[in-house]
Amino acid sequence: MTTAVSELMSSPPVTCSAQASLREATQMMDARQIGALVITDGPSVLGILTERDLLRASAARIDPAAEPVRRWMTPDPDVVALDEEVGAAWAGLSHHHYRHLPVVDRGSLVGVVSIRDLLSVAQIRPTDEAGADVPAGLEGVVVAETSIGDVRGLEGFFHYRQYSATELAARRSLEDVWFLLFDGALPDRDESARFGAEVAARRALPPGVTALLPALAGAGSPLDALRSGVSLLGAELGWRPTLDIGADELRSQALDLCACVPTLLAAAHRLRRGERPVPPRDDLSQVANYLWMLTGEEAPPDRARAVEQYMMLTIDHGFNASTFAARVIASTGADLAAAVTGAVGALSGPLHGGAPSRALDMLDAIGTPDRADEWIRRSVAEGDRIMGFGHRVYKTDDPRSVFLCDVARGLGGPLVDFAEQVERTTVDVLAELKPGRRLYTNVEFFAGVVMHTCGIPREMFTPTFAAGRTIGWAAHIMEQAADNRLIRPAARYVGPPPPAPVPAP
Ligand SMILES: CC(C)(COP(=O)(O)OP(=O)(O)OC[C@H]1O[C@@H](n2cnc3c(N)ncnc32)[C@H](O)[C@@H]1OP(=O)(O)O)[C@@H](O)C(=O)NCCC(=O)NCCS
Repeated sequence: MTTAVSELMSSPPVTCSAQASLREATQMMDARQIGALVITDGPSVLGILTERDLLRASAARIDPAAEPVRRWMTPDPDVVALDEEVGAAWAGLSHHHYRHLPVVDRGSLVGVVSIRDLLSVAQIRPTDEAGADVPAGLEGVVVAETSIGDVRGLEGFFHYRQYSATELAARRSLEDVWFLLFDGALPDRDESARFGAEVAARRALPPGVTALLPALAGAGSPLDALRSGVSLLGAELGWRPTLDIGADELRSQALDLCACVPTLLAAAHRLRRGERPVPPRDDLSQVANYLWMLTGEEAPPDRARAVEQYMMLTIDHGFNASTFAARVIASTGADLAAAVTGAVGALSGPLHGGAPSRALDMLDAIGTPDRADEWIRRSVAEGDRIMGFGHRVYKTDDPRSVFLCDVARGLGGPLVDFAEQVERTTVDVLAELKPGRRLYTNVEFFAGVVMHTCGIPREMFTPTFAAGRTIGWAAHIMEQAADNRLIRPAARYVGPPPPAPVPAP
């Protein structure tokens, strides 16, 4: 039995004019206990104003009595037809993160349908043996519990354990955040010094890995070398399945892994360029030592700190694709190297970790600020994605991007001004060409600018991301192993109906 949108929608809809003030709109929503207002001009839908818009407005500290609704609403929102089946409305809501859709009949507004209305039907629908359907890309689906951290996309906030991640990046070291992710609390001064010394002592690669590195480094990109190198490291160090070892042994392996990854990456980078690897030093911090091994020179403190802050901001970020991949593999009881190798593979994709160098390539291609508008319009018209913009979870400013923009400004240089101009143009053009999608700068855009300014070569951008994120992956793998159940979802079969007779060859 199918249900039409007309059977579920709220009607008549609560509407408001675009000229009304935000205060009037908020009072109306409060009085009617609703989460969205449809903005109309006669029977036509001009826009929709939701609680999220009010949150954005309140974050911008505007005066709600003086601010017209028109400036904060989403113009030309997606709508659903009165006789549409609820499945179509569900797809529209879940795909774009909407909570409300205006319902129209021959162009005129007749009601509003909300996620809550649709869920009321979902509860009375029989589930079949394949289980419940979830949105494409598992968007918004909770698949596990974690106490490592979380991302609040609508607020533009993320945290590690109970601490704001940006505040940690401003006030602590990478090693302190590493300790926090692994052991659950921030270290005091003594613990911090002890932990720093402990991990610094683990930076040298085992001889078996060092011997094979030239072959690994020559075969592909630095990230390919990392993927194979992590696998080799696990084999060399005899890492056994997580199912067969205790928490202490896994933690010790994870410390070795996270300490060795920068060494592996820096050595692979230098070997690819025909240079001798620079051995790690144990008198430098994790990031200062990484930059030392890459270049053979001690980085100026402001640059080492900028890269350290970048790595702290990207050490973990909710159930992103690579973290999920790591946890899926860990859930099979496989060893640490297997789980991290899979995570590196997921990170290498341009939609995940592969974007910062592409964002910089884009700045090169644009060339000058006056060409940005035309360049972005042409790319979107050709169906391309603008690298460094948009995010699955953030529908407002990505706090990492805001922080890194400040870091980039502190470092200075012409690229920073240019990047900021391109950012402004891109956000405006995307708002016009992709209304309602809420596309803002993500972490990758200014990450490329910061890393470039700090002298990291472009091909090492994503590997540098991996050097920090390995710590987050390892923390998740330990958490998964500590309370494990095999992750094994289901798929809905949509091919030709079985059983078809098998034809003779
Ligand atoms: C990060 C990303 C994969 C998230 O994607 P998502 O949540 O699956 O969003 P969708 O792919 O469903 O996109 C939603 C809509 O916004 C558009 N969109 C999203 N990001 C876009 C971008 N960077 N440039 C242009 N359009 C974009 C899509 O084309 C789509 O439009 P449509 O509704 O007309 O089809 C996506 O924003 C993207 O590809 N960004 C560029 C790559 C990047 O910077 N990656 C680093 C992420 S930290």
